[in-house]
Amino acid sequence: MCGIVCYVGNKDVKPILLEGLKRLEYRGYDSAGLAIQDGEEIKWHRAVGKIVELESKVNGLEMKGTVGIAHTRWATHGEPSEDNAHPQRDRDENVFVIHNGIIENYHVLKRKLEREGPRFRSETDTEVLAHLIALNFDGSLSDAVRKTMSQVEGTFGLGVIHRQTPGEIVVARRGSPLIIGVSDNGHFVASDVAAMVRYTNKVVHLEENEVATVTADDFSISTAQAKHIERSTETVEWRAEDAELNGFPHFMLKEIYEQPMTIRNAIRGRLEPGEGVPKLGGIMPVWDKLKECRHITLVACGTSYYAASVGKYIFEKLTEIAVEVGLASEFRYRKLNFPPNTFIVAISQSGETADTLAAIREAKRKGASLIGIINVVGSSISRETDAGIYNHAGPEIGVASTKNFTSQLTTLTLLALLLGRHQNLSLTEGVQAIRALEALPGLIEKVLAQANHIEAIAEKYYKYGNWLFLGRKYNYPIALEGALKLKEVSYIHAEGYAAGEMKHGPIALINPEMPTVAIIPQDEMHEKMFSNIHEIKSRKGPVIAIATEGDDKVREVVDEMIELPPVLDFLNPVLAVVACQLLAYYCANFLNRDIDKPRNLAKSVTVE
Ligand code: M6R
Repeated sequence: MCGIVCYVGNKDVKPILLEGLKRLEYRGYDSAGLAIQDGEEIKWHRAVGKIVELESKVNGLEMKGTVGIAHTRWATHGEPSEDNAHPQRDRDENVFVIHNGIIENYHVLKRKLEREGPRFRSETDTEVLAHLIALNFDGSLSDAVRKTMSQVEGTFGLGVIHRQTPGEIVVARRGSPLIIGVSDNGHFVASDVAAMVRYTNKVVHLEENEVATVTADDFSISTAQAKHIERSTETVEWRAEDAELNGFPHFMLKEIYEQPMTIRNAIRGRLEPGEGVPKLGGIMPVWDKLKECRHITLVACGTSYYAASVGKYIFEKLTEIAVEVGLASEFRYRKLNFPPNTFIVAISQSGETADTLAAIREAKRKGASLIGIINVVGSSISRETDAGIYNHAGPEIGVASTKNFTSQLTTLTLLALLLGRHQNLSLTEGVQAIRALEALPGLIEKVLAQANHIEAIAEKYYKYGNWLFLGRKYNYPIALEGALKLKEVSYIHAEGYAAGEMKHGPIALINPEMPTVAIIPQDEMHEKMFSNIHEIKSRKGPVIAIATEGDDKVREVVDEMIELPPVLDFLNPVLAVVACQLLAYYCANFLNRDIDKPRNLAKSVTVE
C-alpha cells in the first residue's frame, strides 16, 4: 500500500528520499513522487511505475535542498497516473501533501471547494487536503493541518510542506501509521521503519490524531487540540542488512530459508523445558483474566487468518477453551455477542491491517479483552491490544508472507501450551511439546534440503493452469495457505480444500491436467487422506504428496513426493507449509514472475 518518507536535516534530501522510496517498494505501489524545498521554491516530480522511473526523471535535475517529502501511491481514488500521484498541491502551489489512507467525505468537500474557487487537477481524495490546508493557513502550518483534520473524515498519515514555512515538515496521523526517526543529521518521518533504518534505529511513534512539526534540530508532537505531548525515543530491532538480499535472488526465497532462525527467535527465552510451560512476559498484564478464560476468538486476514485456523486446532488439542476463528473483514460487521471473559486474539504480521484493526476496535467496544500476535514492534495493533506476543520474525520484505507464518504458528502454540498447562495438560505432554518446538528449526532444515527436488517438481508442473491443494485437520489450513502462496506469486489458479469436501464438489475438476498437492503426514488423518489420493489417481489426476519420510505406501501411488521428518502432529503444518512455499516460489520463478512484488498486491493492506 502507499508509503511515506520525509526528511529534514543537514544532508542533501533527494538521494535520501529516493533511497527511502526504494525501501518501501515491497509494500506495493503504482506511482511515486517527491517534493523538495529548494530555497524559496518547492520543486516536485511524479512518475507512474517503478521508482526508477521517478529516479530517471529527477536525476540530473537541479533539486538542491535539505527538506523534502516523498510517496509511493497505490491507487484507490483515480487510476495510476502522474496527475493522481502524490504530492498533491493547492491552486497556488504553496502546499504540498503526501497522504496514506482514504478521505471518506472528500466528495462533499470537493463539491464545496469547487464552488468556492479551487479547480481540481486530479481525481484523488488527497487533493482536497491540499486545498483545505491552503485555505486554513494563517502563518502556522501545524494549525492549518489541525483545522483540516477537524473537517475531514476517514484515515490518513500525512506529510505536508508549505512554501512560507521553509525548514519544517508537518505530519499527522489518524488510522495510518507514522514514525519519526531521530538521527544526528536530522529527522525522518516514514510510514514504515524500513524507509529510514539505514540512517537510524531511534524512533518515536505518532499516536492517533496527533500532529508533529519536524525540523532539522527538533520535533514537537501535539494533539488535535494543540496540547503538547512529550514522548521519548524507542530503539527498533531492524538492521539495515535485514532489507538486503544477501545473495538470494528474491526476498521470498531468503525469507523461506530464514525460517530455522526465525523459529529460534520466536522461542528464544520463552521455553522452560523442566516445567513443560512456556514463559510469555507480554501477556502477563492480562494473565489473571486470561487463565480463567473459556472463549477465544482468533481474528486475522489472509495468511495470518490461515495461521489462526491452524491455531484453532492446536488450542483444541492442548486446552479446554472453545475457539472460534474469524476473518477480520467479516468479523468487524458482525453482531458480536461474547460470553463473559472472552479474549480476542488479533494475528497480524504488519500490525497495521485495516480490517484487523477495525475488528479489535469493535470487539473492545463490546467489552472483549484483546491480545495481539504481531511481528512489527510498535505497530498500531500492538499498541491497541491489552497484551501481546511478538513473533520476532524480523522484517518480512517479500509481499507473500512466509517466515512470519511459521513464527505465528510457533507463538500460537506457545500460547495454547501455556493455557493448556494451566488447565489439564500433563507435565509429560508439556515437556514433549517443548522438546518438539526446540527441535523444529532442525526439522525445517531437512525440508529446505529438498529445495532442488522441489524445484524439479515445479519445473514439471508449472505450466499446469489449475491446481488443487488438499489437507485435513491441522493441515486443512495449510492446503488453503499452499493454494494462496501459489496464486499470489505465480498467478496460477489454485484452490485449497478440506480433503473431506472433495466428494462434495471439487472432485468434478479432477483430470490429468489438474495437479493435486495432498498433505498427508503420518497422523490420525492419514488413512482418510490416503483414500482421497486414490480417488484422484483413479481419475488420472497427478498427485504431489507432502508426506512423512519413509511413507512407501504413499510413495507407491503418487506421482511426486516431498518428505517431511516426523514431528508431533500439531507441528506438522510448520514443516508442510515450507514445502508449499518452495513449490510456489519455484513455479513463480519458472514463470518469470515479479516474485517479491506480485501484481495488484500490497504487503500491508491499510485500507478496507
Ligand atoms: O499484516 P497482516 O498479517 O495483517 O496481513 C494479512 C494479509 O494481508 C497477508 O497475510 C496477505 O494475505 C499476504 N499477501 C499473504 O501472503
